Amino acid sequence: MPKKIFLIAAARPNFMKVAPLWRAMDARPDSMKPMLIHTGQHYDKNMSDVFFEDLGLPTPHVHLGVGGGSHAQQTAGVMVKFEELCLAEKPDLVLVVGDVNATMATSVTAAKLHIPVVHVEAGLRSRDMTMPEEINRLMTDAIADLLFTPSPDADENLRAEGVAEERIKLVGNIMIDSLVRSVAKARDLKAYEKLGLESGKFGVVTLHRPANVDDPDNLARILGVLTAVDLPLVFPVHPRTRAVMQEHDLGSRCGLVDSRLILADPLGYYEFMNLVIHSRMMLTDSGGLQEETTFLDIPCLTLRPNTERPITITQGTNELATIESMPGQISRILEGNWKKGSVPDLWDGNTAPRIVDVIADFLADK
Ligand code: UD1
Repeated sequence: MPKKIFLIAAARPNFMKVAPLWRAMDARPDSMKPMLIHTGQHYDKNMSDVFFEDLGLPTPHVHLGVGGGSHAQQTAGVMVKFEELCLAEKPDLVLVVGDVNATMATSVTAAKLHIPVVHVEAGLRSRDMTMPEEINRLMTDAIADLLFTPSPDADENLRAEGVAEERIKLVGNIMIDSLVRSVAKARDLKAYEKLGLESGKFGVVTLHRPANVDDPDNLARILGVLTAVDLPLVFPVHPRTRAVMQEHDLGSRCGLVDSRLILADPLGYYEFMNLVIHSRMMLTDSGGLQEETTFLDIPCLTLRPNTERPITITQGTNELATIESMPGQISRILEGNWKKGSVPDLWDGNTAPRIVDVIADFLADK
């Protein structure tokens, strides 16, 4: 009998991580029956559906429809519905990815029902407990049976927390699997031309972290720096950020109309990667983009005081930034004075098959 495996999809960054795992498991129908579970944390068409289409994912087998809300509302809502689903469907394994609220909510629920849990992208630590993601990472890693890590620093973090060696599996970066598969098609799209831009002559901005965008004065200061940059910057605006900008009228307050900052709605995977591939630089507070720009060798400024992905700094093209340091760093990029990165080991597009091999052995022993 094939083993029933729940793959938890929930929010935008998870879809790129789940897709290669879905494919690798779907190719083994004799031993695995993967089922996609969408919790509903991200629900707009352009935050969710378009990624299923772009990444070739099937319609989720189950949609819990929990939606947004406060952290407690999201977490509790997912737990209640996911427990009902687990009791009805009795999966043999629950696979979670990343660090969003649903990752933690579904892991805790499954572990209490004695269903094995495996965590992909385990071991990353920012040591910043003001980030909800750090709490989600710590809780998920504490209870998961297998911890699939993207880089040696993650292994070290887990060892330092006393995790047994046999639970730690260094397999590489799952998000890069999706990028490797899509990069040729994404490169050819010319989404940037539709915005009147030339390859290599614009930057891309994404901002959605509460620490950057929830305080309107702070967001206004960031926008002030961006409008002064002597390069067109494309900024697909996350719903959280858009809500703050609209409520506080930051568009007119920060003079966006007269600037070279181009606001856009959130984009699909291919369109967005087309912009990144052809960009001169990235300004972001996202986790995944630090990794994707390292893979693509594009200069990246991360507007955060810390990162759970230090290998993108030590080996890749990433630097941390503050509002004060950004102008100087941007000038260095435009002068061509930026470090050349290299791609970390095992960020090679074959992480999903490595994970599925380990899971097959794990389930064979059950
Ligand atoms: C979540 C993740 C974050 C990830 C980010 C990517 C957590 C704790 N955070 O943050 O790690 O980097 O996703 O986007 O899980 N909204 C919509 N439509 C949508 C999705 C969200 O309008 O499709 C609104 C929500 O209702 C909410 C706000 O945007 O008001 C924030 O959404 P939420 O999922 O709570 O957190 P993110 O900031 O997206």
